[in-house]
Amino acid sequence: MNDPTLQEIKDRLNVADVIAGYIPIKKAGVNFKAACPFHHEKTPSLIISPQKQIWHCFGCGEGGDVFGFVLKYENLEFRDTLKILADKAGVKLPSYRPENKQQQDEKEFLLRINDFAARYYHKILISSQTGKAALEYLKNRGLTDGTIKRWQIGFAPDDFHALEKALATKKVSSADLVKAGVSAKNERGQMYDRFRGRITFPIYNYFGETVGFSARLLKENPNAGKYVNSPETSIYNKSKILFGLNFAKEAIRKKDEAVVVEGQMDCIAAHQADFTNTVATSGTALTEQQLAQLSRLTKNLKFCFDADAAGQAAARRAGELALKLGFRLKLVILQSSAQSEDQQLAKDPDELIKKSPGLWEKVVSEAVWFLDHYIDQADALFPPGSVEQKMYLSKEVVPFLAFVSDPLEQDHYIRKIATRFLISEKVIRDQIKPGNQQISESPFAEASGDRSADKLISKTGSGLLLQKEVLGGMLFFLDFIETIGRKIALEDFEDEEIRKLVNIWLKSGAKELSVNEHPLAKEAIFMLESQLGELEGNREILRKNLEKSFALFKVSALKRRQQSLQAEIKAAEVAGNKIRLDELNREFADVLKERSEFEKNL
Ligand code: GTP
Ligand code: MN
Repeated sequence: MNDPTLQEIKDRLNVADVIAGYIPIKKAGVNFKAACPFHHEKTPSLIISPQKQIWHCFGCGEGGDVFGFVLKYENLEFRDTLKILADKAGVKLPSYRPENKQQQDEKEFLLRINDFAARYYHKILISSQTGKAALEYLKNRGLTDGTIKRWQIGFAPDDFHALEKALATKKVSSADLVKAGVSAKNERGQMYDRFRGRITFPIYNYFGETVGFSARLLKENPNAGKYVNSPETSIYNKSKILFGLNFAKEAIRKKDEAVVVEGQMDCIAAHQADFTNTVATSGTALTEQQLAQLSRLTKNLKFCFDADAAGQAAARRAGELALKLGFRLKLVILQSSAQSEDQQLAKDPDELIKKSPGLWEKVVSEAVWFLDHYIDQADALFPPGSVEQKMYLSKEVVPFLAFVSDPLEQDHYIRKIATRFLISEKVIRDQIKPGNQQISESPFAEASGDRSADKLISKTGSGLLLQKEVLGGMLFFLDFIETIGRKIALEDFEDEEIRKLVNIWLKSGAKELSVNEHPLAKEAIFMLESQLGELEGNREILRKNLEKSFALFKVSALKRRQQSLQAEIKAAEVAGNKIRLDELNREFADVLKERSEFEKNL
């Protein structure tokens, strides 16, 4: 990563300022502290060092420079992260090209084709005879000129080659049109425009670039789907993109809440009425990736899915995922009250907003907690105390409790169900036990009486902390490498970046000083300096601790080696390869012995 542009961006940014833009941070001496957003924790263990321009979490072992934080936090690709940071730093990116230039250029090109199509369809809608009926239709549905322009809504003429012709002078090959998703090929290999006789809604990515379209029939047609969407392409990853997020992200962050609706018309209508923290799933199941993007902006979600059966099923599925990811989830109910089932306010948000934005505001503000809604349903749907009611609770409600990660909240619901429906708490607790074991423990919790290596290793998270500690030891104590030199193997490092760095370090005979400039190296040294601080500068104890860490690190690496040997042994047995089997068994015995040597040092 010695791209000069990247370096310039990093130089201009302060890691603490950038991180503070995402999560609350607190001054702690020369450093800053924050609750780590990358693992579940109550006491802050993420430390930011403005001096070294790095961050490191002593809980889960994650860390790096400003770039690494944003990459991980925003959950974006390299190029997109670079865009965000370049923007923050006020650095222009025109000359920048990532390693995979060809692929990148192709993506840019496909974006341009989609952008062209969006502008072309938009122009037809707003200023041509062909688009007149569609424009009238949209106006009738209450969309303003401003909204139509902002979302670049358009109309695709009922013609198999309109877009193709419009692009004729632009040197775009048929293959590119297909790759961009705007055209398709029939069985005879003939090209045709994918969207015909439809109102086009551009689909934007996080940055507002057009990656595809959702296109709605203008005239009812029982033989065609109401909506036709772009296919999945290299620029349109359906499980990642949320309709409207480009326009909604700031409002979601500010309001600390996102409203998720089904249809794009619902989303657009909501934005027009100034409910700008709204996004749409476009009628498909909400994915974990979409939720992960939202979780970078807020932990508070409100779902408003259609009142029909499909909408309700979608809400349950999405609800399960959202609870698992730790969202505080509410449901917006489009019915005036619980007892009047068929007395809907409206069939979807668009309809309600058109009727009265005030009513929409009211139902959104009165959203009920996701679990409370299903608990209330038990009373609304079944006679009190009936077996059916208990079965409903057991099948449809209690399983959700297992996904509630906050133990106090979970306890609240267990008690609530138990008292309200006269069910024993124990029965409920037993039912949700198995699914509940993944709740993470703080990796820094005191090691318990059982000091087996496995336990200790699992307490240090994914092993990332150990790997970084060993790296730090090598860089911090120049003679540490001599002590451990013969025992260390590159394969011991699972993390690829760390392995690369250690390789350079080992090859250069520990003379490659530039290694120290690597963010990983800075972070590793920072870890040890912090530990040294806690030990009141006692380097001897630090060394002892490091030797112990090294032993743990080796045990964990040798365990992995044992596992892969076991697999090989099985394969050799099956193949009846006696010679190989002997070899493997001998190696296995050696690894076992080496492992027990290290375990003695723990
Ligand atoms: P309007 O009738 O224009 O108000 O659309 P709607 O959003 O109310 O439609 P509906 O509730 O039927 O569907 C919700 C969402 O599901 C739509 O916004 C589309 O994204 C998607 N959808 C609906 N019908 C189809 C279809 O036939 N094909 C596909 N691929 N998606 C559809
Ligand atoms: Mn609708």
